Amino acid sequence: MDEFLNFAKRIAFYAGNVMKEFFNKEQGVIYKEDRTPVTLADKKINEYLIEEVKKEYPSFKVIGEELSLDNDSDYAWVCDPIDGTSMFTRHVPISVFSLALVKDGEPIVGVVYDPFLDEMYSAIKGEGAYCNDKEIHVNNKKLGELGCNIDYCMWSKAKYDTLEIVKELRNRAKMCSFGSVAHGCMLVASGKISGEIFPGTSHGECDVSASKLIVEEAGGCTSNIHGESQRYDKDIDGFIATNKEVYDELVLELRRFYK
Ligand code: IPD
Repeated sequence: MDEFLNFAKRIAFYAGNVMKEFFNKEQGVIYKEDRTPVTLADKKINEYLIEEVKKEYPSFKVIGEELSLDNDSDYAWVCDPIDGTSMFTRHVPISVFSLALVKDGEPIVGVVYDPFLDEMYSAIKGEGAYCNDKEIHVNNKKLGELGCNIDYCMWSKAKYDTLEIVKELRNRAKMCSFGSVAHGCMLVASGKISGEIFPGTSHGECDVSASKLIVEEAGGCTSNIHGESQRYDKDIDGFIATNKEVYDELVLELRRFYK
């Protein structure tokens, strides 16, 4: 497993350099059919990952947000080259790189790298979660308690409209929307905030597969938007990541809204 983690970190450092290189220069932004942006940096990172996987793990799949590599394997490297591309194109330094090794649908190694703060979040299944090699843990704030913050994502074409749930929760938590679900999840894993709500479905596994492992290894809970488990090597059905105190109550609320 250490070998996989070292590989993931090496790709993450490469990605971080590309993100910093393109951060303040012409990014060649184009908008995809779903109106989300993609930059030259997203493509360069995704292409590099595929080249490196072909060299080191030629039988594995790659599921990338911009580009994939199909193989008949139980193992898939699942990657979002830049999570928070929209903020990246606006030169807001919140975006992160995310990569997980998923075996039979279950993330077993994950890294999320914030190149702007040089913070490398990582986890191996069963071995705890770390930020720059220091162990991290979720917090224990309950809904309704001061200092309980929840990040959420929202966009017009999402299968699940988070507006109603945000209105419901706003009296029990400080609701924030930072612009990168993976970054939000790392704030959950490191105890800075208490929860994350992500209504993503198609290609959503690219955004959150590493976060699923890192948050759980930090002592938190994750599931789809209905409180059920799911695979992370194909489209997901939304995603939540919280500390243990918030989880049950949040799932009850989500089930009321998204039957
Ligand atoms: C996006 C970010 C954002 C979320 C979007 C995602 P991307 O990822 O995670 O927080 O609201 O739904 O698509 O497109 O920048 O990789």
